[in-house]
Amino acid sequence: MADRLAPDSPDGAAAPRKPVPGPGDPGVTRRTFLRRAVLGAGTLLVVGTAALGYRAYDEGVFSAGDGAAFDPWRTWQDQGGPVGMVAAGILAANPHNTQPWRFRVRASQIDVYADPARNLGAADPLRRELYVGLGCALENLVLAGEAGGYRSAVVLMPDPRDPAHVARVTLTRGAPRASRLHEAIPDRHTDRAAFRSGRAVPPAGLEEMARLADGLPGTRLVWFADEAGRRRVGDLLIAATDAFIADEAQSKAAFAWFRQDWDHFMRVRDGVNVDTAGLSDLTTSLAKILPRQSRNAGDRAWRDATRDTQVATAAAYGVVTVPDARSNAARLAGGRLLERVHLWAAANGLALQHMNQVTERADRERQLGIRPRFGAAAAGLIDGRDGQWLAAFRIGYPTGDARRGPRRGTDAVIVA
Ligand SMILES: Cc1cc2nc3c(=O)[nH]c(=O)nc-3n(C[C@H](O)[C@H](O)[C@H](O)COP(=O)(O)O)c2cc1C
Repeated sequence: MADRLAPDSPDGAAAPRKPVPGPGDPGVTRRTFLRRAVLGAGTLLVVGTAALGYRAYDEGVFSAGDGAAFDPWRTWQDQGGPVGMVAAGILAANPHNTQPWRFRVRASQIDVYADPARNLGAADPLRRELYVGLGCALENLVLAGEAGGYRSAVVLMPDPRDPAHVARVTLTRGAPRASRLHEAIPDRHTDRAAFRSGRAVPPAGLEEMARLADGLPGTRLVWFADEAGRRRVGDLLIAATDAFIADEAQSKAAFAWFRQDWDHFMRVRDGVNVDTAGLSDLTTSLAKILPRQSRNAGDRAWRDATRDTQVATAAAYGVVTVPDARSNAARLAGGRLLERVHLWAAANGLALQHMNQVTERADRERQLGIRPRFGAAAAGLIDGRDGQWLAAFRIGYPTGDARRGPRRGTDAVIVA
């Protein structure tokens, strides 16, 4: 490359190198040598620090959670009415921050659509998580309507010929009804860091969260809070993580939504990056400055974090169940419950991380027609009377503040 050629060798031939003076050379005293050495090192340090500083700036070390891509978290209540309901909807939990939604807004009606192109491919082979995430958005939307004086009549999967039309919400005016779940919308973030070891969630809290299923027919929340239950779910999660990363197509599909270029991330406003991986501030900054991580290194880091941090500190696991996890209407209803639980956790000082590698493997097994190792194990953990395993999470007390992820604004997701 041109800038690495010596200035006196225009044809690119290496210039004869000058001997580097040292303390043994005539005319170079020990003191001048030391002074030159210190000056040289100082220059390197200044240049190196400036370069690192620039790279840190360029990769968003100083801007995590700031900027236009995060504005939806601050401006979600600026607009009332049905558009304001959509502004709340887009802040919901959703698989890998794919934000797989579109909305058609009328004065007294909102239609919610899946954006089928925004899928996780082999990581969500039967599109279970896509519909669960849409259910999460629907819940935020309905809560924001209630707070703003709109009653929502929700019909799930209103058009049997159109699997992308996931809900029709018909609005009528009523008295505004604020709720703690609604207020918690901007505080709800997925927390992938360690939770406080040894601090259990009180049984009354677990029961209250289970009651959030009221009004969502067929949905149920099953807890694994005692030691034996936690061990069974934790071991299964670790095994499923190993199986996921051993499946190249699944690993690649997840990696496609992992953002390592800050400018690109801020432009597309979707996917996940190292900021929300639950690492310390220092490790997060270093990860952004250092060369990009390969897919395999990322997989190993995920497996280690799953085993040593996330499973190791889970106070309890929750599994949302529905009568038929392959029914899109049931997935949407289960997603509504999942979002309620996450909002309740945020409102009550609890941390929550969605963890779905078990069903990602179970669905992959079904897609490939291979032995249902995880499908059978998941079914074995749930009493058949409770329905089928739809989505899972761990819960506990936080050790820090989870960072927020970017969102595409309402203008990008409302269609004519
Ligand atoms: C259906 C569904 C599945 C998810 N699965 C996982 C998961 O397996 N592991 C994980 O760390 N986060 C998972 N998440 C969390 C999302 O990555 C997260 O909601 C998204 O990145 C947006 O971030 P936020 O929740 O902090 O707003 C899931 C979320 C949903 C709704």
